[in-house]
Amino acid sequence: MDLLKNRILADGQALNENVLKVDSFINHQVDPKLMDVIGKEFAEHYRNKNVTKVVTIESSGIAPATFTALYLDVPLIILKKCSSKTLADDVFQTKVTSFTKNIEYDLTLSKNYVNDNDNVLVIDDFLANGEASFGAINLIKMANANIAGIGILIEKSFQKGYERLVDAGYDVYSLARISKLSDGKIEFLN
Ligand code: G4P
Repeated sequence: MDLLKNRILADGQALNENVLKVDSFINHQVDPKLMDVIGKEFAEHYRNKNVTKVVTIESSGIAPATFTALYLDVPLIILKKCSSKTLADDVFQTKVTSFTKNIEYDLTLSKNYVNDNDNVLVIDDFLANGEASFGAINLIKMANANIAGIGILIEKSFQKGYERLVDAGYDVYSLARISKLSDGKIEFLN
């Protein structure tokens, strides 16, 4: 998506070979007009997949996922990150390890909001190693729902996430695919 790629080139910052800073329009300050266009794009891409719910992970996925859900006219569910098990029997939980942030958390979904009739689209801001996506997939599977696809704003294609998800059979749609980051330089795959 040219709009997002151009914005990354204008306002993104390659901190090092692994991390792209996009705090001024995605992660800290949010550009709602950009999120609106992104939501429309995901909705168009997955329009014929009979999506019944959009799922994202708090916090940076919420803005683009909200617009996606709006344009697909379905509810949005936000997966919560808990630092320790809450021992509730009305939730599904799975452990996620973030290599980028070097933390581990329990990703949580209430049993009330996804069920075996659902066809779920997962939306998230970054795809690195795919740990967060697979965490979301695990929870959706625990609820016996189907996964319609995975929509990603920024894929770091030099990390393993995309390949792992596609190898597992998922329909991954990334709006910007980054092939290389180096000090101050950002390169796209296509
Ligand atoms: P993975 O899920 O694909 O394996 O990625 P990883 O665990 O390594 O990333 C975990 C967190 O780090 C996610 O945010 C993800 O959005 C963020 N992240 C990964 N790579 C980058 C990057 O290059 N730049 C930025 N800005 N963020 C990156 P999170 O912990 O879910 O935080 P939140 O911002 O959604 O609250």
